[in-house]
Amino acid sequence: MEQIVKYIRENERRYIDEMVALLKIESVSSDSGKKGEVRRCAEVLVKKLRDSGFENAKICETGGHPAVYADWLHAKGKPTILVYGHYDVQPVDPIDKWTTPPFQPTIKGNSVYARGSSDDKGQLLTHFFAIEAFLKNGGKIPCNVKIFMEGEEEGGTGSTDKFVENNKDLLACDAVAISDTAWHEEKVPSICYALRGLAYFEVRVKGPGRDLHSGVYGGKIQNPLNAMAKIIAKIQDEEGVIKIPGFYDDVVKLTEAEKKEFASLGNPDPEMIKDLGIPKTWGEKGFTTLERNWARPSFDVHGIWGGFTGEGSKTVITTEGGFKFSTRLVANQDPKKIEKLVDKYIKEICPPGVTSDVRMLHGAYPVMVPIDNFFIKSAVAAFEKSFGKRPVLVREGASIPITATFLKVLKAPSILMGFGLPDDNIHSPNEKFNLDNYQKGILANAYMYDAFGKK
Ligand code: BES
Ligand code: MN
Ligand code: MN
Repeated sequence: MEQIVKYIRENERRYIDEMVALLKIESVSSDSGKKGEVRRCAEVLVKKLRDSGFENAKICETGGHPAVYADWLHAKGKPTILVYGHYDVQPVDPIDKWTTPPFQPTIKGNSVYARGSSDDKGQLLTHFFAIEAFLKNGGKIPCNVKIFMEGEEEGGTGSTDKFVENNKDLLACDAVAISDTAWHEEKVPSICYALRGLAYFEVRVKGPGRDLHSGVYGGKIQNPLNAMAKIIAKIQDEEGVIKIPGFYDDVVKLTEAEKKEFASLGNPDPEMIKDLGIPKTWGEKGFTTLERNWARPSFDVHGIWGGFTGEGSKTVITTEGGFKFSTRLVANQDPKKIEKLVDKYIKEICPPGVTSDVRMLHGAYPVMVPIDNFFIKSAVAAFEKSFGKRPVLVREGASIPITATFLKVLKAPSILMGFGLPDDNIHSPNEKFNLDNYQKGILANAYMYDAFGKK
């Protein structure tokens, strides 16, 4: 390891330069105009893997955005680790809130600012460079490694999921290593063992066939935008309870022991209130912030459109409006079941005089990974060796859809070992990734792969 540690230290500058190069590629998976950029990113990664000594590096066609695969399987008798990450990124809007352009990576202080820096290109590279260090110093990795990077995680993983189901042998492994999560607090590293699932919907509410004068027609017909507001207001009540009948039927109740364990991590409210500039936190009555985020479902509207929003005033009743919303799901909720419940409920509550159209865009299953195993123990120890701090075990409120598929299809637990910080602004303007975490993340992963070779 001495040689590896030295090599990683000496290559710090190059690691940054190569991350910067990758961050310049505008691989926004949800933007059909950026399809070529997404593919170009995959091609750059294939070349990178090939050049570093990986074998079988290739693009995998999924039907959606391509995935990238490569392996090195010469550690006889040692475990096989599947490294997963996603090279696609979120859209950049609102673009005017960025202080530096999202695809011109800029180093300020100890961070690199760019879309995808923390989520997930920078984090994904911590594994690539850890493994590269072994390949460049003796040509051997302590364990077998398959690397699998997807290009559509931010859009719900649809086609890549099916690729995994259809390519069980290619991806067969003992455990999956993922760095796509954040630390619990700025100075509290964490390993995550549970993620929420998701059901994402688009609803359109249709009224009259043309825009109308609101004086001539007001009071005589249903206004689709008024109707839409009523629909939204009926999904969740004042106390944060989701009103869709049957919605909570499969939710696993928190045990007293779990509640205690969450509480032992402290109360995140004061810090969050300050950071976000809000008067108070809010959520389902009867639960703490961590309980709400980690073990209870939630409901959020993501966007609302329709009607007149221009300068001044216009007395109009418009033809149609729409909104997008999602619910985060917890064990044992099933997005397919939730789809049926949502569809039925919105039809029921749709006010008279308009019609509604509900479409589920994508769904993800909640997941809990087993933690009492050699792989998690090795990861904890490696983390501590590199950062000088023992990571805490946490859950996350967010989703990484493919982790449930890995567990179900490959029977492989994921090690969710992230290097992001809570204020990395993922999915927001001014996304950043801390360069200390980058460098120490590479080192932590190197220690981890070394430990995997000792099984
Ligand atoms: N890396 C995130 C998930 C995440 C964020 C985990 C912070 C832990 C802490 C991932 O890229 C993500 O954003 N997932 C989406 C999935 C969705 C589009 C299906 C999410 O959670 O919204
Ligand atoms: Mn991510
Ligand atoms: Mn993301």
